[in-house]
Amino acid sequence: MNYLSVEKEDGIVILTLDHPGEKVNKLNEQLIEEFKAFFDEVNGDDSVRGIILASGKEDNFIAGADVEMLKDKQAPDEITELSRTGNRMLLEVENFEKPVVAAIHGACVGGGQEVVMACHYRVASKRNSVTHLGQPEVKLGLLPGGGGTQRFPRLVGIQNALKYMLTGKNIYPKQAYRMGLVDELVHKDAVVTAAKKAVERINAGKFKRKDRRGLGTKLLEGNFIGRKIIFSQARKRAQSNTKGNYPAPFKIIDCVEHGMKKGKKAGLEKESVEFGKMAASPEAKNLMRLFFAMQGAKKNPAEEKVRKVEKIGVLGAGLMGSGIAEVSSDHGYRVLLKDQDIEQASKGEQKLWESLNKKAKKGIITDFERDRQISLVSPTGSYKGFENADMVIEAVFEDLDLKKQMVRDVEQRTPDHCIFASNTSSLPISEIAKASKRPEQVVGMHYFSPVPKMPLLEIIKTDRTAEWVIATARDVGIKQGKHVIVVHDGPGFYTTRILAPYMNEALMLLEEGAPIDQIDREMKNFGFPVGPLALFDEVGIDVAAHITDTLNEMFGDRGVEPNNKPKELFEAGYKGKKNKKGFYNYEQSGSKTKKKDPNTGIYQYFGGPDRSKINAETIHQRLSLVMVNEAAWCLQDDILENPTDGDLGAILGLGFPPFLGGPFRYIDQTGAGEIVQRLEKYRNELGPRFTPAEILTEAVKHGDRFHSEQ
Ligand code: NAI
Repeated sequence: MNYLSVEKEDGIVILTLDHPGEKVNKLNEQLIEEFKAFFDEVNGDDSVRGIILASGKEDNFIAGADVEMLKDKQAPDEITELSRTGNRMLLEVENFEKPVVAAIHGACVGGGQEVVMACHYRVASKRNSVTHLGQPEVKLGLLPGGGGTQRFPRLVGIQNALKYMLTGKNIYPKQAYRMGLVDELVHKDAVVTAAKKAVERINAGKFKRKDRRGLGTKLLEGNFIGRKIIFSQARKRAQSNTKGNYPAPFKIIDCVEHGMKKGKKAGLEKESVEFGKMAASPEAKNLMRLFFAMQGAKKNPAEEKVRKVEKIGVLGAGLMGSGIAEVSSDHGYRVLLKDQDIEQASKGEQKLWESLNKKAKKGIITDFERDRQISLVSPTGSYKGFENADMVIEAVFEDLDLKKQMVRDVEQRTPDHCIFASNTSSLPISEIAKASKRPEQVVGMHYFSPVPKMPLLEIIKTDRTAEWVIATARDVGIKQGKHVIVVHDGPGFYTTRILAPYMNEALMLLEEGAPIDQIDREMKNFGFPVGPLALFDEVGIDVAAHITDTLNEMFGDRGVEPNNKPKELFEAGYKGKKNKKGFYNYEQSGSKTKKKDPNTGIYQYFGGPDRSKINAETIHQRLSLVMVNEAAWCLQDDILENPTDGDLGAILGLGFPPFLGGPFRYIDQTGAGEIVQRLEKYRNELGPRFTPAEILTEAVKHGDRFHSEQ
């Protein structure tokens, strides 16, 4: 066997799973075959008193089904058959006469969780930072296809199971134990020993699983009417979360309901059929491609050029600076968090503490891990300690002169090898580098807010940035947990540049009389997580004013009229959420600023209070077209190196609808010809801001696609 190794001690077989040549264990057809062969062999062997399933990987149990294998299969029937085979094998595990116990350490998700749910007992290690369970299939547009929709609700209750299957969220050890997904938590070195003891206990008839659901839950889930309410509410929530753009959540609910009504066998069959259909759907294909692109953005193609970074100076302990300090210390970098004075810097440290404490309370990290991470960050009002910093990331106010001053100050106080990275959201990096004595060591590292949550890092290189600097910045970004794209310098780089025309178009629609809430609602229906006007408030109208200032000239060269609206609003005192004056009204609730209804007062800047709805399709088309067209311009202008980075940047940085696969997949799937036609129609009606990028018209002429595979 290639994947499995077998050891036997006192009649207990330890079956160790170790995917050859991979860092993590993945479920594929060959492994299923080996599993089956093993169970066929031990079946009826009286000398076997129990089986322990363990992993040969250091910090991974089973990372799930091999997505590569699913991507390669096109036909729903073929995928359904694969799921049936898996389900047959897991039934064999479940029906095995002797105890089968999973000894879990490391991630055990997707198909991994499904395997352990078929076992009779689960021991897991307590290490939150390493061990977690979960059914993340929904994030790939899939449903659990290895019995998850049947075993999970039977083990932890319908509501708990739906909650995790519909969000794909990680389930950390404590949570898993509390809901009954695992039976025992121990130190990582003790999982196998504990599993052996569990085998003995089960054999001695001393184990009975407790139903850990509360009485109310038991009553609700235990009767037909209660279940009907649960499923109907789950469908309503799924509709409101997906706007009907993602079919998988509905299929998950259908499968659970079917299994509860008709029994496990019927439920498993339905699950296999729906799994096949979903895996072959365009939404899942796009989400799986996104998954691969995301994996690619976690690798460094120039690893050999990376230089060592141990200490990072962060300038500005505001919203972004404290976030950058958090993701840096999370990896173990030592961080100097500098602001104008120690009081300001301490405020940044306080934010970091609050954020980590929240994680500790949720059980995601231990108190010890929280304290250790905090101890790596030193707030400061001076440059003391910068003499051995390897990298400085600045996140001070968005002001070119100030950023240049930072370059000069930093270069005086840091060693020659120190990299200067700017987290500006729009200022050209080459302008900032003009203040530098070592411009080859100046680079852009554009993070997104909130830094600990947003998965993208956009690295910006100028013509002079050295290869080792780019490689090192990428390495730091990956270690901070980010998916990294590298783009060329230019006004707004990539993400800010494609966001600008999109936001501008929302303002144009406002000028034409559309109501604020309609524009936002429609773009959410299209698949964005927030509407463009709510986003203005989040980003800050002051920041938007800066950005339009930076971009007006470039767009002007293409004949597009300058957009001065954000500046006008800013000058009238509008900053958005931060000063509770924006496109929406806000109220303070404790430390949180909550968004309320649209601020009708702002209509005075957009032609007055009379509003009438605009055709929904027009809103979808105009806003999405300017964004995908600008992405094409970025590829044409060499800002982007390839379409995959463009897709990834738009989805992870700006919330472009993932099921559409990103701007370039969207163009490929809609057809470049169709996109150009739509753009030209709007150009004739509304002007040059809809002029198609040449790269698009060329693609139409030559029948080219941006991505080669279908
Ligand atoms: P912020 O206003 O929350 O924080 C800026 C901090 O810089 C303040 O604490 C301020 O005291 C400090 N500062 C000012 N001058 C300084 C100096 N001479 N030395 C040390 N510290 C100094 O601003 P935020 O939102 O964190 O933005 C910082 C940078 O990040 C800006 O360039 C912004 O464009 C960029 N950015 C912001 C994003 C956002 O969503 N807020 C997203 C991506 C980038």
